[in-house]
Amino acid sequence: MSDKNSFDVAVIGGGPGGYVAAIRCAQLGLKTALVEKRKALGGTCLNIGCIPSKALLHTSEQFLFAKKHAKESGVEISGDVSLNLDTVMKKKDKVVKQLTGGVDMLVKKRGITRFNGHGKLLGDGKISVDEKDELSAKHIILATGSVPVELPFMKFDGETIVSSDHALSFDKVPEEFVVIGAGAIGLELGSVWSRYGSKVTVLEFLPKIAAGSDDDVSKFLERCFKKQGMTIHTETKVTGSKEIDGKLNVVAEKKGKEITVPADKVLVAVGRKPYTENLGLDKVGIEPDKRGFIEIDDHFKTSADGVYAIGDIVRGPMLAHKAEEEGVAIAEMIAGKAGHVNYDVIPGVIYTEPEVATVGLTEAQAKEKDIKVKVGKFPLAANGRAIASDATDGMVKIIACAETDKILGGQVVAKGASEMIAEIVTHMEYGGSAEDLGRTVHAHPTISESIKEAGLAVDGAAIHSL
Ligand code: NAI
Repeated sequence: MSDKNSFDVAVIGGGPGGYVAAIRCAQLGLKTALVEKRKALGGTCLNIGCIPSKALLHTSEQFLFAKKHAKESGVEISGDVSLNLDTVMKKKDKVVKQLTGGVDMLVKKRGITRFNGHGKLLGDGKISVDEKDELSAKHIILATGSVPVELPFMKFDGETIVSSDHALSFDKVPEEFVVIGAGAIGLELGSVWSRYGSKVTVLEFLPKIAAGSDDDVSKFLERCFKKQGMTIHTETKVTGSKEIDGKLNVVAEKKGKEITVPADKVLVAVGRKPYTENLGLDKVGIEPDKRGFIEIDDHFKTSADGVYAIGDIVRGPMLAHKAEEEGVAIAEMIAGKAGHVNYDVIPGVIYTEPEVATVGLTEAQAKEKDIKVKVGKFPLAANGRAIASDATDGMVKIIACAETDKILGGQVVAKGASEMIAEIVTHMEYGGSAEDLGRTVHAHPTISESIKEAGLAVDGAAIHSL
């Protein structure tokens, strides 16, 4: 093989895990290749996930404000407020293009060699690209991400039964939109289409929505979404579909009884699974576990020499920022540095209205671990900035160790919670206590003051609530 095609590191997969790993490798002086089959870098997150969904959440919020809430704020709009979905989609596509283009530029400027095609392991450090090109590397990082899980009795057809990939690009607003699964994807895309005017019904198997969240938070959210007009059925297991009067109906079992919900579109959002199809894992002796995940050790090493794995194909939350941190850590480890990811403080966000942001342990998880906790809560209804901004739907909850006062977890339900959670993450990263939070000076008036107040509430010392 020519010198041109031999590298110190080759990364397969150009999503947030892979492209970040490649950039960090190049920064550290390693000759790096990046293999990605999509034309645009950025993976699911930038192309068909986090970024386009945030663009739609933003425009749908603006539409809802103009349509429903502007008048009560004194903003008079003469004439009808209508939606131009074509413009909405063009704007979303422009955002995606700008960001994927930005990543492409960064990768080029770092001198990373880009291979456009499907990467497959051949063994002995070799990788084929679309079975045409070949490269070799001393170290190979697998970062191939995940794909939506299908229900065996309700396969994606891209038209009526859709995954999140399709639900970001409808050409008209579905009248009746059924969402199966009340996780991040179901709740975010349910919110988008509800704001654009769909009648949204969410069917969730578990007794609560946003199952990873604290019980208080889940209950609070469910009330908010119902208030916004969504119908939510928990403890409801979807079992199939049938036609009634010529229309597709989703069939589900709710507490032993059958319910049917008519649907123009059905979003199946019941989770994602690792994507390692045709990656050549067998060629290097890697056998994924039953759920498709690749096993790794604390240094991201797989069972194959010189092959590492990060992101959605390995254990841990399927989150872009987790993959990014792992990308940085593995690059540093390969370069002989001490890469590290603190898995105890990875925030998770559901970008609904209000947003839900969580980090660390919930109260229930702490109790399961037999940790005695003290809890501080603060409602946004008592926060001046929230009242002035029509943003009182929300709360902050801080969970601290009863003995040491160390913060173990935090939940923020608020407009802008995704930004606010960083404060709790930072305190936790430095081993901070609830008292540290409570004594940190916050600008007034800000919604973030509710984090300080929740910190104070851990010791019953909140100033603006009883
Ligand atoms: P999820 O695993 O978070 O939620 C799926 C839900 O579907 C669960 O609550 C489950 O109980 C329910 N379910 C499963 N089978 C069902 C059935 N037959 N009937 C009714 N309900 C059923 O999966 P989701 O939302 O698809 O997300 C996949 C991954 O992507 C997650 O790891 C998520 O964290 C990540 N993600 C994160 C985002 C964010 O951070 N904002 C956005 C999008 C995805």
